[in-house]
Amino acid sequence: MNIDGQPYRTIFPDPDGVSVQVIDQTRLPFAFELKRLATLEDAAVAIRTMIVRGAPLIGVTAAYGLALAMRADASHDGIDRAAATLAATRPTAINLRWALDRVSANLRQTAPDERFARAFAEAGRIAEEDVASCRAIGAHGGRIIADLHAARGGDRPVTVLTHCNAGWLATVDWGTALAPIYAAHERGVPVHVLVDETRPRSQGAALTAFELKGHGVPHTVIADNAGGHLMQHGEVDLCIVGSDRTTASGDVCNKIGTYLKALAAHDNGVPFYAALPFSTIDWTLDDGVKEIPIEERDGREVTHMTGRLADGGFATIEVVSPGSPVANPAFDVTPARLMTGIITERGVCDASPEGLYGLYPERRNAA
Ligand code: MRU
Repeated sequence: MNIDGQPYRTIFPDPDGVSVQVIDQTRLPFAFELKRLATLEDAAVAIRTMIVRGAPLIGVTAAYGLALAMRADASHDGIDRAAATLAATRPTAINLRWALDRVSANLRQTAPDERFARAFAEAGRIAEEDVASCRAIGAHGGRIIADLHAARGGDRPVTVLTHCNAGWLATVDWGTALAPIYAAHERGVPVHVLVDETRPRSQGAALTAFELKGHGVPHTVIADNAGGHLMQHGEVDLCIVGSDRTTASGDVCNKIGTYLKALAAHDNGVPFYAALPFSTIDWTLDDGVKEIPIEERDGREVTHMTGRLADGGFATIEVVSPGSPVANPAFDVTPARLMTGIITERGVCDASPEGLYGLYPERRNAA
């Protein structure tokens, strides 16, 4: 995607050939800054503190992190230690573990002195595959938006509600939930996006709004609790969200608050889709509510907010009555029965084992 006319990906190799650059997402939308990751610890901190975030991007960063670790310790134990460090950064997004497993397996078949180069190249391949997957998700999901527009006689823009940020900032490029929106917009299908603010970290208000504005897509930021009301009044045509982990049965884990939107959509007959690449599917799990580990983050994300002051400086302010206990579960699970469908790089399917195995028949006997 372009920033001030210059194409950027969220992560890319540094010209020095031994480190990577990422966009520091904790500074957006007010400052666009790059950060260099040169060590395993740099990568782990970037994921843990959400300098990079979004399931696919976490996976790619972890892959590069494992590569960077090989510069310091390319032994078998070094691979295991680095993978364990990176795996411990964020527990919910399965893309992280998927990427670590893929790079680790590759490294074990490689001589120690070639491990850095091999892992760095493999991380680059994962990044390229992610871009291709997101483009394909955009093409498949964009057709849903275009069909909806045509079915209604093309009289007004299709209004799509999305939660959190599942755009290019959450992936390497294009995004998952936002890719269909970008694809439809580029085809000339009029779209208007309702952007859930997404407390506590405000990924919608800060990141999705930043992306959509940069791409010229009409949008409106709404408070997290507004979606149900707008659906009751016919002001939402379609919901599309991303996912951090989706079970083989089609249960979709995504940013906290997604489930409530799915309930409201179900009650109001609004189609509700999740858009995700194959690396987000956890084929070993069946019951998402019971089995997916939900990250509990620092309560300070709830009690404090950071923003820009009128003079351009940044400030963090307290917004909760001091001393009250807080809880901060970062994700929730939307059961498959509330989903209209799942959009993947291979097409659109029902949120069910039949639907997912239909798109990925090779997984039937693999998990
Ligand atoms: O906590 P975050 O910002 O990493 O959560 C991100 C989300 O929940 C996204 O919707 C999800 O990762 C899908 S990203 C394409």
